[in-house]
Amino acid sequence: MDKLIVQGQKRLVGEVAISGAKNAAVAVIPAAIMADGVSVIENLPCIEDVSCICHTIEKLGGKCVYRDRHTLELDCRGKIDYRATFEEVQKIRASYYFLGALLGRYKKAEVALPGGCNFGVRPIDLHLKGFRALGATIEEKDGMVCAYADRLIGTSIYMDQVSVGATINIILAASMAEGVTTIENAAKEPHVVDTANYLNMMGANIKGAGTDVIRIKGVEKLHGAQYTIIPDQIEAGTYMIAAAITGGDVLVKNIIPKHMDSLTAKLDEMNVTIEEHDDSIRVTANRPLHCANVKTMSYPGFPTDLQPQVAALLSVCQGESVITENVWDNRYQYIEELQKLGAKIKIEGRIAHIQGVPALKGANVCATDLRAGAAMILAALAAEGESVIEGVRYIDRGYEDIEHKFNALGANIVRVK
Ligand code: UD1
Repeated sequence: MDKLIVQGQKRLVGEVAISGAKNAAVAVIPAAIMADGVSVIENLPCIEDVSCICHTIEKLGGKCVYRDRHTLELDCRGKIDYRATFEEVQKIRASYYFLGALLGRYKKAEVALPGGCNFGVRPIDLHLKGFRALGATIEEKDGMVCAYADRLIGTSIYMDQVSVGATINIILAASMAEGVTTIENAAKEPHVVDTANYLNMMGANIKGAGTDVIRIKGVEKLHGAQYTIIPDQIEAGTYMIAAAITGGDVLVKNIIPKHMDSLTAKLDEMNVTIEEHDDSIRVTANRPLHCANVKTMSYPGFPTDLQPQVAALLSVCQGESVITENVWDNRYQYIEELQKLGAKIKIEGRIAHIQGVPALKGANVCATDLRAGAAMILAALAAEGESVIEGVRYIDRGYEDIEHKFNALGANIVRVK
C-alpha cells in the first residue's frame, strides 16, 4: 500500500490548476447511460472513483474510450444491462446513481448497495422514497437494491432533508418519467446543476437546478451529448487552505470563484488575503492567522467536504475555534490523527473545539477517509519535520496527481509504493 512522506514547513508558492469535479463526474457518467447514444465528457478528473464508475459502465455493456487523459467517449448504444451487481459498485457510494439512471431508461434497476467513505450512517431512504413517489416498487434483497416500475409518473416530492444524492437520483429517474415532477427542498450544490445541465444537453427538460425547487418535465428519449465538467470546488478549497496553512502565496486556477464564497469568507476572517479573478483566486497568507467558527451546511453554506481540511488550518490559528458539523453524524474520526501531529482538539458530539498551537510536529498518521486524507497532507505540510501518511488509496479516490501538484508549488512529498 502506498504511503506519502511529507517534509513539512515548506512555503507553497506558485500556480495550481484545478481538475474537473469528482462529485459532478460520478453523476454525469451514470447519466450518460440514459441515452441510446454516444456522449463525450470533457474535463474529467483522473481519479479512482471515475475509473470505478467507468468499469461499471463497461460491465453493464457500455463502451468507455479515453480520447485523452481527461476526455471520455461513452458509447451507450444498444442494450445496457439493468443489473449492476458486481464488486466495483460497492466500492463507491455514488454508484447509487445507476439506480436512478437505469430506472429512468429501463424502468427497472438492480444495484448492489453502495459503499464509499465511512463517516457515520449513510442511508439512501430519501432516494428510495423519491423513486416510490414516481411509481416504482423497491425491494432490498441480498445486499441489492431493486427498483421496478411499469410506468414512472411525474409527481411532487418534498425532501425531508436536503440531500445531494437523492436530488440528483430523482432528477435522473424523473427525466424519463411521464409528466412533470417537482422536487422541493432540493440540494443546490454545483454538481446538482452540472448534472442537470448535462441532462438538458441530452434533451431533458429540467428547470430550477441550483434553487430549492426543481421542475422536471419527463421526455421519452435522451440522446448523447458533449459536455464539460465543472471545476472541483473541494479540490480548489483544499489548495486554498494549503496556501494559508503554509504561509504561502498561491494562484488557484481553473475554478468558479462563486463556488468558493463560503470558504473565502472564512479565510478572510482568518487574516488571509484573497484576490478574486474571473476563473482563479490568489490566496496569500498573513501572520498571525486568526481563529474562526465554522458550521457545515448544504450549498451555499460551508461544505462538509472541506471540514477536515479547515480543521487542520484552525489547528495553527491563534485562539480557540469551534467547528459544528451539521451534515454527517460521525465525521471526526480523523481528529485522533490530527492530534498525533500535535493539534489540540476536543470533540463534543457535532462540535469540535480547536485550540490553536504555534506549530504542529511531524508524525505517522493515517488517512481515515478521502477528505481526512487531504487534511493530513495539509497538516503535514505545516508541521515541523517529517510525516508519513498511510491510507493513500482514499486520497487517490478523489484527488488527481496530488503529490505532483503540491510539489510543483514547492512542497516535498514522496510517494512510497
Ligand atoms: C454527497 C457527496 C459527499 C458530501 C455530501 C454532503 C457525492 C458523490 N458525495 O454525498 O461528498 O459529503 O454530498 O455534501 O456527491 N441522508 C438521509 N437519507 C438519504 C440521503 C441522505 O438521511 O437518503 C442524509 C445523510 O445521512 C446526511 C445528509 O442527508 O446526513 C446529506 O447527505 P447527502 O447530501 O445525500 O450526501 P451524499 O449525496 O451521499
